[in-house]
Amino acid sequence: MKAIILTENGGADKLILKEIDKPVIKPNEVLIKTKALSINPVDGFVRTKEAYVKRILQPTPGEDMILGWDVSGTVVETGSEVTGLKNGDEVFGMVNFPGSGKAYAEYVAAPAGQLTIKPANVSHSEAAAATLAALTAWQSLVTYAKVKPGDKVLIHAAAGGVGHYAVQIAKHFGAYVIGTGSANNRDFVIAQGADEFIDYSKEKFEEKVQDADVVIDGVFGDHILRSLDAVKGGGRVISLLTFFEGEIAAKATAKEVFTHRLGVVSNGTDMEVIAKLLADGILRSYISARYSFADIPKAHEEIAGGKTRGKIVVEL
Ligand SMILES: NC(=O)c1ccc[n+]([C@@H]2O[C@H](COP(=O)([O-])OP(=O)(O)OC[C@H]3O[C@@H](n4cnc5c(N)ncnc54)[C@H](OP(=O)(O)O)[C@@H]3O)[C@@H](O)[C@H]2O)c1
Repeated sequence: MKAIILTENGGADKLILKEIDKPVIKPNEVLIKTKALSINPVDGFVRTKEAYVKRILQPTPGEDMILGWDVSGTVVETGSEVTGLKNGDEVFGMVNFPGSGKAYAEYVAAPAGQLTIKPANVSHSEAAAATLAALTAWQSLVTYAKVKPGDKVLIHAAAGGVGHYAVQIAKHFGAYVIGTGSANNRDFVIAQGADEFIDYSKEKFEEKVQDADVVIDGVFGDHILRSLDAVKGGGRVISLLTFFEGEIAAKATAKEVFTHRLGVVSNGTDMEVIAKLLADGILRSYISARYSFADIPKAHEEIAGGKTRGKIVVEL
């Protein structure tokens, strides 16, 4: 089968198309014939930095390094211990995150417990998009921030992969949603359901909002300190990047803010909820770019630009 191998840490030119053996499934796994996969910023972080290879990819010594975690496709083999899925099922999910998902391949071995059935009214591309990013939005807002009706929720990078799902999920839970982004994403973020939009290039969000119940922050730098200014005392701040340490932890403690640095994890139960939201049209994937399998390096270059609207998918 065809796979994209990461030969060593470096630029997108280190991603090489190679013919390798199909994966052999374990008893708890299924083999998926990939129809679509999606690209996330973390793919680029792991590609460029050895520390991310160790922390996230965790490859077995000697094996090919294959990136990618988000897959949608058809089950073609089923392990002896698998009960919930059968050959021919159309499934999607985030495979082995953190760990080796090896989704940049024509066939992907995946634990059945991390997958769910793709709704018939959702395309493989829309399903592949709604995996790592949608799980991040769900686990941030629902598992940790415990969003509830009437909450004022500030979502940074609201036009991005995580952000556009987070806006939709927060609205579904009855929150008042404020999204941040640059001016050209105003209409897009409002169309996802946001009540307000803050253009970060013209306004300081912490000057406009100081009483958020929940903040979801996936922006680098001192952003998390500013998010702690925007949350009310006793509120909840979920960080997707920066850890709550030192000055940041002290500021959160002084305001009695609940904090959590999310590390998204594969979870079949959460995938089932996402599948139901997609099936019911409550959650929608916005796909801004589609690439062929051989063009995965180009998809890496695009996501590294940091201007992605919605999701970038690869179609096989
Ligand atoms: N810890 C975890 O488990 C986890 C999981 C998923 C993602 N993440 C991290 O969370 C971040 C977001 O992920 P993603 O998949 O949504 O990324 P993404 O799709 O690449 O996000 C792109 C978006 O970020 C917006 N943006 C850039 N700078 C901004 C700023 N200063 N203020 C507001 N918006 C800004 C851009 O909007 P404009 O074009 O309008 O600037 C663009 O729409 C990434 O850093 C990712 O690595 C962490």
